Amino acid sequence: MTPNRIEQLLANMTLAEKVGQMTQVEKFSITPDEVAEHGIGSVLSGGGGNPEPNTPKAWTEMVAAYQDAALTSRMAVPLLYGVDAVHGHTNVYGATVFPHNIGLGATGDPDLVRRVARVTAEELIATGVRWDFAPPVSVPQDIRWGRTLEAYSEDTSLVTELGEAFLRGLQDAAGTGLAHPHAVLGCVKHFIADGGTQWGTAGGGTEVGETVGCDGNPGTADEVMTEERRLILEQHDNQFGEMYEHGRWGQRIDQGAALIGEEELRTVHLPPYLAALEDGARTIMVSLSSWHDLKLHAHRYLLTDVLKGELGFDGFLVSDWLAVDYLDPDYTTAVAMGINAGLDMVMVPHDWRKFMQTLIESVESGTVPTERIDDAVRRILRVKEEAGLFDGITADPELISSFGSPEHRAVAREAVAKSVVLLKNNGALPLRKNVSRIHVAGGAADDVGLQCGGWTVEWRGLPGGDIPGTSLLEAIHATVANEAEVAFDPNGHFADQPADVGIVVVAEPPYAEMTGDRADLTLPPEDIALIERMRARCEALVGVIYSGRPLLITDQVPHFDALVAAWLPGSEGAGLADVLFGDTPFSGRLPYAWPRDSSQIPLAALEASPEGPLWPRRYGLA
Ligand code: GLC
Repeated sequence: MTPNRIEQLLANMTLAEKVGQMTQVEKFSITPDEVAEHGIGSVLSGGGGNPEPNTPKAWTEMVAAYQDAALTSRMAVPLLYGVDAVHGHTNVYGATVFPHNIGLGATGDPDLVRRVARVTAEELIATGVRWDFAPPVSVPQDIRWGRTLEAYSEDTSLVTELGEAFLRGLQDAAGTGLAHPHAVLGCVKHFIADGGTQWGTAGGGTEVGETVGCDGNPGTADEVMTEERRLILEQHDNQFGEMYEHGRWGQRIDQGAALIGEEELRTVHLPPYLAALEDGARTIMVSLSSWHDLKLHAHRYLLTDVLKGELGFDGFLVSDWLAVDYLDPDYTTAVAMGINAGLDMVMVPHDWRKFMQTLIESVESGTVPTERIDDAVRRILRVKEEAGLFDGITADPELISSFGSPEHRAVAREAVAKSVVLLKNNGALPLRKNVSRIHVAGGAADDVGLQCGGWTVEWRGLPGGDIPGTSLLEAIHATVANEAEVAFDPNGHFADQPADVGIVVVAEPPYAEMTGDRADLTLPPEDIALIERMRARCEALVGVIYSGRPLLITDQVPHFDALVAAWLPGSEGAGLADVLFGDTPFSGRLPYAWPRDSSQIPLAALEASPEGPLWPRRYGLA
């Protein structure tokens, strides 16, 4: 479509149709017929936004129903369907589940990350999804943040390199750019300094209406505990309560305030976006956090003056989930603030009629200029045209056969093996395949759900879920010699048989976003007891940690003869067995420095600490 065709389309659209293009709705809140009637621009599946049954075929039918409906609207503008494929197309049961980005950061391998993104793109295209809300290019400065796992590293240059590689893998199927049947539109997020927020500046108290300010002091009314957030945290505690010690978890930094100067914002948090813009980023998601006492979603200086003006970004900005609602208690004021600041598409995601009506009225009253609406819609149409949507590019049913295929899982297995960091080894590794007896302890050793972490089938993951893949225990059975005996007990209770070696797996319970904000990163008492129980019974003890960040384990390290950080490896536990048994050499390097204790958190405290970390960033034994 040439620019003047976009102008023609724009000129023929009513205000309601333009606002429809700016509206993104989550799939449970709208039907295909409503998409057609109102000319809705985008539908998304949030974490757990799955069809029933949750199969690739049902996904293809669901996405096609929305996309076909959009084409029957008066202006027949194609729809963009978006999901969070941050470590594979993992809403879908049976998808290839890659290591979370902290593990990819440990690989330090941009070519591997590009191939991971390419496989992810193929599984997205197989189901007709052309928009991925990835890569996250956060640069976390405090590992207590529940989204550390989604970020490649605390180091800006590594985040820049791997974020760019992932975007290229998604968007460039055959060196021909976005208008290719197997290209997927990326969405770099969350602009900006989402990883630079300060502990205590978010979430507020646990009561609705309680507040905590940007400066971390109660009562300065910047962060309000809303009913929606309270429900999320309450559901989370109920669902996982037995896994979480109450009080150690709960939103305290996610969506908080980045209390940093502009120089730090531009040197630490901006470079990944500069590289992504160079590399063809066409959509950017705005952060729910604040900077200089203002929510990013209302930040005209950063969204319009800097990103669109100074940096020349001519794609479109999409808001985050419910973000506009948090801008002001008065919804009309909030909508005008967000759109006038530079938001182009709004992830409403529920009450889209109210959003559309409010924005239409704001334009009619002059609070939001028509030029701002036309600019937003022009950007959206331009990107849809670049992605070939007007040329009818949608799902490729040919790819459905490769969904979760052995070839795709082989890439994930390679990524797991390259992500594992060897922290300590007194000679216990590599394990011998002809070992006579191995004791394996820790429930996570046989739980692919815990291996995968959050953003897997459900928003906060699926612990105990029989997610297709290979647990570490299954991989051990498949690796050792036939005569070897492998005994497994989650609690490490083995009759008095001796074992040559014990493996104990400890895991963070799965979480997502603010439900992963965690004050105390020490191991829970039951994990410490398990390690000590295994130490007392095994000649040699190997420790495996599944976590979305470094944990405070200084006191436990002496118990191990060997210790590995496996992060959240995903569905292919065989990759972990590959390095434990020496079929693949260890090559992972720490993407975050590993603190000795809580006095070395956040990163600024660690860098100021005279003693230095337990292990520095880039550490890893071969
Ligand atoms: C979430 C996340 C964002 C995600 C969006 C849609 O709140 O902040 O990363 O893309 O909602 O699921």
